[in-house]
Amino acid sequence: MLQTQPTRNQAEPPSQDLPDAELTVAGETLRLPVVVGSENEHAVDISQLRAQTGYITLDDGFANTGACRSAVTYIDGDQGILRYRGIPIEQLAAQSNFVETAWLLIYGELPTPVQIRRFRNLLIETEMLHEGMRNLLDGFPPKAHPMATLSAMINASSCYHPDIMEMEDESTFDLAAARLMSKVRTIAAACYKASIGQPINYPNPALSYTENFLHLMFSIPNRPFACDPDIRLALNLILILHADHEQNCSTSTVRMVASSGANLFASCAAGVCALWGPLHGGANVAAIQMLERIQHEKIDLKDYVAMVKDKSSGMRLMGFGHRVYKSYDPRAQILRAAAEKVLAITKRKDPTLDLARRLEEVALSDPYFKDRNLYPNVDFYSGMIMRAMGIPVNMFTVIFAIGRMPGWIAHWKEVRESDSRISRPRQVYTGSNQRDYIPMENR
Ligand code: CMC
Repeated sequence: MLQTQPTRNQAEPPSQDLPDAELTVAGETLRLPVVVGSENEHAVDISQLRAQTGYITLDDGFANTGACRSAVTYIDGDQGILRYRGIPIEQLAAQSNFVETAWLLIYGELPTPVQIRRFRNLLIETEMLHEGMRNLLDGFPPKAHPMATLSAMINASSCYHPDIMEMEDESTFDLAAARLMSKVRTIAAACYKASIGQPINYPNPALSYTENFLHLMFSIPNRPFACDPDIRLALNLILILHADHEQNCSTSTVRMVASSGANLFASCAAGVCALWGPLHGGANVAAIQMLERIQHEKIDLKDYVAMVKDKSSGMRLMGFGHRVYKSYDPRAQILRAAAEKVLAITKRKDPTLDLARRLEEVALSDPYFKDRNLYPNVDFYSGMIMRAMGIPVNMFTVIFAIGRMPGWIAHWKEVRESDSRISRPRQVYTGSNQRDYIPMENR
């Protein structure tokens, strides 16, 4: 078990004494303790419910379940507030950079100059891929989806660094965290290069984290590479905005895998798989494909909105809606403004930006969306920025994964430092009652 100093931001036990909640089950009234978070969020602790009554709770999609105590990220979905370790996302987006934000998330405080220098050096030291990993990459078909390759390659990395299996002290964790953050970028770009049949680039230790990613993606051996500072800043912004989002599907997956004692790489490889789905990180691909379809087929926006409102269509307005935000996603707010700037800088005309804005207007003035508090989320505008940067559509969710890595690492660390039990939900069984096996000849 990893034993490090708890970060100062660790959730404090409730300071107020609140009266217990009362629950009457089968005629018996039970007193349940109320837990209060540092932002005055209230939760009813039901951990003794089954032991005392034989009942469990049932909560589809965990919409009402606090699965843990966490000190990493705070969201107020009604007011559109997002803070990493207490710092508003708007301040980080305007003033920080991805590596510093990663350190903040993982270790709980803004780094000192010495700490950040040490971390950057670790990122440089660990940026190369083992030749065995390059051979492994050759085994994937060129058209393999990069999310499949990324997850497999992250998991396989643990075979090349067996020390991460026995993460006993702080310095092994520091190395493993840096190794994962650094390698995921090298692996992601290598997947892209392999998919287009170009040679894989080596990382350049003289470049910053984001410049290095752009170099790995876009350098070709016979031409010098010049990193556009505005594109570097745009990538930095995208990565910061994706860096954590408390107990979302992929982070909960990482935490669940971590709770079994699995290593950091295995846990984060599982996170990549969870992120891939179109209702989660894959929505950035689905949103741009939806806008392209509307544009190419010249679909009237009101007609499209009518289609997504019709449940029998099986369609949703992609990049809209959120489990937690019942107001405008603050990340979408920042990206909406950034999309225009990046398109202007790159002198690209992207008709999907105008289309997205008009679609947003149509949706937000429709009672269906108003009544359900459905607003654009982070995936609605991010695709336009990535496309303007030259990132191909099938790499959008990979960029999300690179950005989310510090959050996953922070949550993995939090699980391992806590004394929480293995994650193991219960169920309400709805299958057959006991029945006898019928031999094949009698069926
Ligand atoms: N388009 C049309 N209707 C929607 C949408 C949408 N995008 N999102 C929710 N609804 C409706 C839904 O049909 C339901 O209606 P009713 O009450 O009549 O049954 C109501 O709004 C509540 O939706 P829900 O499915 O219960 O909400 P949820 O919290 O389970 O799902 C969500 C959240 C993000 C999966 C969902 O809003 C969605 O599918 N959005 C589109 C996919 C998307 O953009 N995902 C990215 C999420 S943000 C970044 C990330 O996590 O990666």
